[in-house]
Amino acid sequence: PAERVQLKDKIRRLLKEKNAVMVSHYYVHPDLQDLAEETGGIVSDSLEMARFGRDHAAQTLVVSGVKFMGETAKILSPEKTVLMPDLDATCSLDLGCPIDEFSAFCDQHPDRTVVVYANTSAAVKARADWLVTSSCALDIVRALKDAGHKILWAPDRHLGDYIRRETGADMVFWNGACIVHDEFKALELELLKKEHPQAKVLVHPESPADVIALADAVGSTSAILKAARELDAREFIVATDKGMMHKLRQLNPGKTFYEAPTAGNSATCKSCAHCPWMAMNGLADVARVLETGANAIHVDPALIPRARQPIDRMLAFTA
Ligand code: 13P
Ligand code: SF4
Repeated sequence: PAERVQLKDKIRRLLKEKNAVMVSHYYVHPDLQDLAEETGGIVSDSLEMARFGRDHAAQTLVVSGVKFMGETAKILSPEKTVLMPDLDATCSLDLGCPIDEFSAFCDQHPDRTVVVYANTSAAVKARADWLVTSSCALDIVRALKDAGHKILWAPDRHLGDYIRRETGADMVFWNGACIVHDEFKALELELLKKEHPQAKVLVHPESPADVIALADAVGSTSAILKAARELDAREFIVATDKGMMHKLRQLNPGKTFYEAPTAGNSATCKSCAHCPWMAMNGLADVARVLETGANAIHVDPALIPRARQPIDRMLAFTA
C-alpha cells in the first residue's frame, strides 16, 4: 500500500508537470479509475473517453484502457501526445478483424453501409462509413435502417445479432467475439437468478444471445451504470467485465452486485470476466510513461483523415 500511495502521488505530480490528463475505462484497476477522476480526467465508456480526449485542452492524454481507445484518441487529436501504460494491451475483436480480410469482405458487399465497432484498428476504421460503440450502436443502426441502408457489421457477432434482433435491419456480420463476454453462461445464470430471485440482471450486449435473453437491462458500460442506479432493486447480477464492479459499488452503496457466471474459474477459463488486456494497465506503468514519454501511440498519418470520418459521424450523431 505504501508503494501505491507513493506511485499515486508521483502520477498526480507528473500529470501537472506535463500538462497531461488521464482517461480511464471502467474495466481497468480501481486505482486508475479513481486517479483519473481525482485529477480532472474521467473514467467512462469508450464513447465518452473518445469525446473527452478530443475536447480536453491538455496536450498529453494518458489513456488507461486498450489500444483501440488510444488510437481513437490519437486519430481525433493527432497534435496531442497519447500515452498508454502498455502498448500490448489490445482486444480480441481488434485482433480478430485484420484489415486485408476485412477489406475483401467489404468488397464482396459493395451495396452495404459499413458499420464498425470502436474496438478495431485505425485501418479498419478507415474502411468504414460509420463507427459505433455499444452505447450508440442501436440508435445509429436504427437510423440507418430507417434511411433505407443495408448494413455490413463488424466485428462483434453477438452485438451485431442483438442489434439485428432489436432493429430488424438487414445485416451481414463479421465473425468476431469478445473473449470476456463470450464466456458468460445462460444455464449458470439461471441458477444464480434462482438463488437471488429479487436480483435484476444487467448484461453487456457483447454477451451471447441466450444470456442477453435473461437480462432486465442490456447496454454499454454506461448504460449498465444507469440501470443500476435507476432500476427499482437492491440486488443485481452483472454480466460484464468485473472491473465495472468498482464504480457500481461506489455509486450504489447499499445495493449488492453479483458477478454473472462464466465457463469456469480462473484456473480453467482464459478471461473469467476480466479482460486480460485491460488488466495490463498499472500504476507503475502510468508513472513511467509520464516520466519518460514512452509508449506514445502512433497512427499512420496517411490513415488519419479517412479513419476520422466515421468517428466524427458517431460523435456528431451522439452530441
Ligand atoms: P463500452 O463501449 O461499453 O465501454 O465497451 C468497451 C469494451 O471494450 C467492452 O468490452
Ligand atoms: Fe476487447 Fe472484450 Fe477486452 Fe473489451 S473486454 S477490450 S471487447 S476483449
